[in-house]
Amino acid sequence: MSKNNKSRRHFIAGAAATTGLVAASSFIPSRFAIGAMAPIKVGILLPYSGTYAMLGNSITNAMKMRIEQAGGRMGGRPIDYVAVDSEMSVPKAPQNTNKLIQKEKVDFLVGPVHSGIAAAMAKIMGQRKTPIMIVPNAGSNAVTGPLCAPNIFRTSFSNWQPAYPGGVLMGKEGHKTCVTISWKYGAGIQMMAAGRDGFATTGGKSVKDILLPFPNVEFQAHLSEIAALKPDCVFAFFSGGGATKFLKDYEAAGLKDKIPLYGPGFLTEGVEKAAGSAADGIKTTLHYASNLDNQANHKFRADYEAAFGASANVFSVQGYDTGSLLLQAAAAVGGDVEATADVINVMETSKVPDSPRGPWAMSKAHNPIQNIYLRQVADGQQKLLGIAAEALEDPAAGCKMA
Ligand code: PHB
Repeated sequence: MSKNNKSRRHFIAGAAATTGLVAASSFIPSRFAIGAMAPIKVGILLPYSGTYAMLGNSITNAMKMRIEQAGGRMGGRPIDYVAVDSEMSVPKAPQNTNKLIQKEKVDFLVGPVHSGIAAAMAKIMGQRKTPIMIVPNAGSNAVTGPLCAPNIFRTSFSNWQPAYPGGVLMGKEGHKTCVTISWKYGAGIQMMAAGRDGFATTGGKSVKDILLPFPNVEFQAHLSEIAALKPDCVFAFFSGGGATKFLKDYEAAGLKDKIPLYGPGFLTEGVEKAAGSAADGIKTTLHYASNLDNQANHKFRADYEAAFGASANVFSVQGYDTGSLLLQAAAAVGGDVEATADVINVMETSKVPDSPRGPWAMSKAHNPIQNIYLRQVADGQQKLLGIAAEALEDPAAGCKMA
């Protein structure tokens, strides 16, 4: 029996029980009657421990806040959240994914943060028609490239998107050589490649690419090597706790004032306060800046701060927009989210006009078409300097749907 049939029978039984109807063969529930009954199940696979814990919490908080603000229901139905800590473990990803799909029978699967886990999940999702997966962070190019599928959507970015304009920026600022440094896994490898490609368009060249095992933070020997190589600048991707450690070590090694540091904006995002002076003044490129002057952003930041006593960041924006997408889709099908093809149709043509990052639209490969901003850390915030790339669309190489 397919999951859909099972859910429908469950709804019908529920309808009969609550209305006193006897389930007779002539009883054909309307879509609305079906949709009004059982809770919609939203599975969440995100990191709540380790170097990316801050990211997982920011996404979860803001997604739930968005849905709560809309009355805590989707398409009129209540919601059951089932959250699993990904532990940032790629080996555990298939087991965690299958648990949410087969045991919990979720209608939507929200996750992950980590590109390696995203690729593992996408391989499973691509073999199935349901549930619908929404990626609220992981940038794995493959997920909206060769692994793209009708039931996989992303509300965040591809690794190429924020990194490529960062490389262009280094050239525009007059640099000719750089060293790239990151973790050796999907996100790090893809972001460094995109940064080098962007830098190359200005005639710039990387003289050394350094990759550390994920989530290793033993930077000392690598910083000594960078000091000896004396490149014009450094292009780095780290995030969460690892980014704070890298920024602090970079400053402590005496490199901050000698060799300017650049990168996709994750390097300084959400860690401005923890990194303190080590983050101050660093310019990066990302699809968000704290002081973007739009009404949705002002309200979002005030609400987030009031609810969680912390500043909102790009990860919470992605969670918030995931909530918006879920709400939009569930409302459009009158709560009947088991009508997967209809939900997919809505999501494919969705525009998110009220995003704190500014308006964005879904590409044919199911990835946001969005502005990439140039920002600089000042007073513990990401201050907008301008638009680095307007309405940037990922090339989606290898996606058969695009
Ligand atoms: C990823 O693994 O795709 C990833 C993780 C953290 C980020 C950005 C991308 O900040």
